[in-house]
Amino acid sequence: MKSTAIANSNTALVKYWGKYDEKLILPMNGSISMTVDKLNTTTTVEFSSDYKNDLVELNGKKAEGKESERVIEHIDMIRKISKLDEKAKVASKNNFLTAAGLASSASGFAALTIAACSAAGLELDKKELSIIARQGSGSSCRSIFGGYVEWLAAKTSEKSYAKQIADENYFDIRDIAVVVEAAKRKHGTRESMQASVRTCPLYDARLSAVEKNLKIVRKAVLDKDFTSLGKTAEFDSLLMHAIALTTTPTILNWSAGTISVMHAVQDWRAEGIECYYTIDTGAHVHILSLPENCREIIKRVKLIGSVIDVIENKPGKGAETINKHLF
Ligand code: DP6
Repeated sequence: MKSTAIANSNTALVKYWGKYDEKLILPMNGSISMTVDKLNTTTTVEFSSDYKNDLVELNGKKAEGKESERVIEHIDMIRKISKLDEKAKVASKNNFLTAAGLASSASGFAALTIAACSAAGLELDKKELSIIARQGSGSSCRSIFGGYVEWLAAKTSEKSYAKQIADENYFDIRDIAVVVEAAKRKHGTRESMQASVRTCPLYDARLSAVEKNLKIVRKAVLDKDFTSLGKTAEFDSLLMHAIALTTTPTILNWSAGTISVMHAVQDWRAEGIECYYTIDTGAHVHILSLPENCREIIKRVKLIGSVIDVIENKPGKGAETINKHLF
């Protein structure tokens, strides 16, 4: 009853921001992402009667408090579905900075779901796995699949799942993840989006714009239309941040480095190097580009003062089990 899974993170092109149901994690709006190939989480889960308590280890350290509670709650749900009583040991490792805003909960809960369901002996298809992952962390349901993925908004759990629009080999674009100097985030994503739904006067306006953006991005992926995809992803990111900025209390996680990269992308575009930016909740920026411009963009990004790290991502594959266990 031991299994290991690896899951890639994903970058939202049309973003999820706000829940209709906090417990089931049903989103207020649909979202579309690209699963990336260089940012991943590996997780091993073992259920055994030898364990007296559940034990969670993240990046080599025993997890405590909220972090460990969220993992155990997820394990509890999977135990319930599979009618298991055994306690579990969970070990998880990211190949990137946790909580840096590079979507660690997306790859984390996707890997945890696949490893735990497999260790529990459940045989589920990807749609069912995405429904389970969603209840750990919303964005993780999209990481179950590779390539371009849509998470459907619905008012019931069984209808809010992720599905693939096109696989990782269909349309080759690049997501250059730019890590910039930044202070630690003051608020978690979960509390931040809750506050937006409650207090932001612009919230409903974004919901209607999102429907249109979903349609455009879905079509842009299928048509391999980078201009339409990039433009819309950048616009949707700005809409999401307009909501964040006008939430009480204000959600402003950008640093000076974030804004430098935003300006640079605009300037390079004006020069004829086609690229677009999208930002999640942290300070870091994802630059979307075509493969042929990627090298030049990376060269230029590295010259920006507050840039710490640059990771070039291609569309990546979906989460899967592997044979190499972490313990
Ligand atoms: C800005 O999936 O981390 O990255 O469901 O509360 O765990 P919870 O939130 P999470 O939120 C991700 C928000 C986002 C946009 C996106 O990925 O669509």
